[in-house]
Amino acid sequence: MTPYRPWHQKFYLRCAIGVCLLALVAGAIDFYNNLEAGFRLHKIQSDLTYNPDWDTGPESPEELAALQSLLEQKFTYIGKGAQCYAFLSDDGKHVLKLFKHHHMRVPGWIQMLPLGEYKEKKARRKRAHLENTFNSYLLSYRELKEETGLEYIHLNKSKHLQREVTIVLPSGAEQVLNIDDYEFMIQAKAELILPLISEHLAAGRRKEAERGVDAFYELVVRLARKGAVDKDAAFAQNYGLLRDHPINIDVGQFGLSERHKSGEGFREAVMEATRRLSAWFKTREPEIAPYVELRGQEILETEA
Ligand SMILES: Nc1ncnc2c1ncn2[C@@H]1O[C@H](COP(=O)(O)OP(=O)(O)O)[C@@H](O)[C@H]1O
Ligand SMILES: [Mg+2]
Repeated sequence: MTPYRPWHQKFYLRCAIGVCLLALVAGAIDFYNNLEAGFRLHKIQSDLTYNPDWDTGPESPEELAALQSLLEQKFTYIGKGAQCYAFLSDDGKHVLKLFKHHHMRVPGWIQMLPLGEYKEKKARRKRAHLENTFNSYLLSYRELKEETGLEYIHLNKSKHLQREVTIVLPSGAEQVLNIDDYEFMIQAKAELILPLISEHLAAGRRKEAERGVDAFYELVVRLARKGAVDKDAAFAQNYGLLRDHPINIDVGQFGLSERHKSGEGFREAVMEATRRLSAWFKTREPEIAPYVELRGQEILETEA
């Protein structure tokens, strides 16, 4: 015989079971998110329609064939930032970047609410964010290929790539994408400079570490001469070496300004880079911070 329970006890028991179930579901979602570094398919999907301003094609038959053959490889997750998820090709030479569209659109649940003016304002802000980001990708592809290692950008959906690309997620799970349906970029794989400098310092290779710092400045100067400014606050982390040649791997926050090419604008660009780089090194690798400031000073004296 089941024991008699007063109605309020049953009610509390059911509430407790409900809360436990909800916590379990939330925990499972959180676990899955952590396992996949927050990657979810819907985040890289968009309902963006064709925009002629974002067109960079058509590719020549040779370019298209090379691109299709590159896309036959698998791409394995290597990192993410605020704007994209990055995947490395099996041959270790290329990085496929799929965009975090969920940061550039109004969330579905807000769209369903009767929020009138607020919703419109948010939609305008998100659209401006999308356009600024895409304009930076276009600028990098058209004007700064050498400085960014960008190999291809695909900002409009298409029908001619005709490749099913397999990406390998952080958990090892595979996801197949009909790549024509996605907005993405392909960039040369670089060796990130910051960890390289730390490695050299840890092994007592001071000269090599200094050469890493020189590479930063080489790129700062080259970008400034072209009028390019990287507005990314984390810009020190964006620099990599591609066959000994420095590139900026994060192309989402570039702007062009004539005034940075020379004179006072150029000095400002170098001083700002020096300030940010030395702040970064002072906290992480203080032993090389004085050299960072010295190099910045030398460049101001010789190049400005
Ligand atoms: N070309 C590349 N070579 C090597 N690693 C890369 C490259 N592109 C991206 N990564 C890795 O992926 C991470 C995210 O890429 P990033 O372009 O900085 O994304 P976001 O624009 O979202 O900040 C980087 O911090 C880096 O670890
Ligand atoms: Mg980044």
